[in-house]
Amino acid sequence: MPDFDIRPLAASTATVSNLSEILVEVVANGGSVGFMHPLAPEAARAFWDGALAAAGRDERVVLGAWDGEILVGTVTLLLDCPPNQPHRAEIAKLMTRVSHRGRGVAAALMRAAEAVAVKHGRTLLVLDTATEGGASGLYEGLGYVLAGTIPDYAFKPHGGLTGTMIYWKQLGPS
Ligand SMILES: CC(C)(COP(=O)(O)OP(=O)(O)OC[C@H]1O[C@@H](n2cnc3c(N)ncnc32)[C@H](O)[C@@H]1OP(=O)(O)O)[C@@H](O)C(=O)NCCC(=O)NCCS
Repeated sequence: MPDFDIRPLAASTATVSNLSEILVEVVANGGSVGFMHPLAPEAARAFWDGALAAAGRDERVVLGAWDGEILVGTVTLLLDCPPNQPHRAEIAKLMTRVSHRGRGVAAALMRAAEAVAVKHGRTLLVLDTATEGGASGLYEGLGYVLAGTIPDYAFKPHGGLTGTMIYWKQLGPS
């Protein structure tokens, strides 16, 4: 299995451009990551500008997976939880470039995000994924527990409603 280099991403024009390319591609391919197809490149850039600004304020960590010089995947760890949930974080925007799927990129990103969460003292992770076309099998393989399913939660990128499945995982002491 190829070794992907996973590291936190900071704001730069090149990084925003790489992330935006991935987001537009993932949405076009039916990935339920909060956007409708077609996603305008400037809307994708505006999203990542905001996300990386939040990362700069330590409200989240945006991880990137690199195959050499190519950014091939990303995941976000949201750390900005209410004051009564300082032990919790959320996983969001897990995406792998279509060209690099099925090679363990997402699993490696998830493990790295969990390690970052532990470093930040977070012991509970939550996430959600679409019932149709989501990644429930991936999360279950990584030990996430299904809390429940909400029907007709969001529109799929190409239209039509899908439910969402909510997962959680407690992280053990490192
Ligand atoms: C879901 C996604 C991130 C998986 O990326 P990937 O790099 O191909 O995943 P990996 O190669 O790391 O797969 C790890 C494991 O999960 C499984 N898996 C991957 N995608 C899966 C899916 N959509 N459903 C079920 N299982 C999946 C793989 O078979 C593999 O299992 P194994 O360890 O038993 O071989 C990618 O398909 C994607 O970007 N999809 C669109 C965006 C999306 O849906 N993101 C999740 C939103 S919550």
